[in-house]
Amino acid sequence: MSYDDAIEALSNDALKLVKNNFIIGLGSGRASTLLVESLARLIKIKNYDIKGVPTSLQIKQIAEKVGIQLVEADQVVHIDIVFDGADQIDSEKYVIKGGGGALLRENILFSLAKKVVVMADKTKFVKNFTKTVPVEVHPFARSSVSNEIKKLGGNTDIRSLDRGYPFFTENGNIILDCDFGIIKIQNHLHRKLSKFQE
Ligand code: A5P
Repeated sequence: MSYDDAIEALSNDALKLVKNNFIIGLGSGRASTLLVESLARLIKIKNYDIKGVPTSLQIKQIAEKVGIQLVEADQVVHIDIVFDGADQIDSEKYVIKGGGGALLRENILFSLAKKVVVMADKTKFVKNFTKTVPVEVHPFARSSVSNEIKKLGGNTDIRSLDRGYPFFTENGNIILDCDFGIIKIQNHLHRKLSKFQE
């Protein structure tokens, strides 16, 4: 089964959690795109009054195209449910996100949400993480955060575009992709890294 087929099947199940008048956080990436397209069909069929809160311009454009009403995160005090994809999920169900660079806004919506649904096919499940961990950083703090991450055992690499220019997020920040090798105490690392996102 292809990734898209798996996510479409999952989306149909995930959308059973949606009720009329919900405010729904829309993650970014391929899984979220498929979910948003299915959500638009559901809204039309059921004539639901639903508002979506986008985590990026990428998903905002998709939602606009399929006619989902949108509000920004600063216009809501809670979100009923967020649907999003994942980069990797390890055997203890820790998740790496941020491959598309929308991690800060995704984290903000997660913190406002009553429920978060992460959609992934079998290719995203691993025993130990093999992907780097993205950390969004204000460019001003590049060296200091990089230095702190090194102390935690991570090698940092500034995410860049094909021609070597740094990648900037929608928040004007850079991303440090951090290689920690095999991560043994995920919870501990998460707490330490979260410090940089506060
Ligand atoms: C966006 O920054 C990411 O967190 C995505 O949600 C994640 O990379 C999953 O993307 P796909 O659904 O495209 O695999």
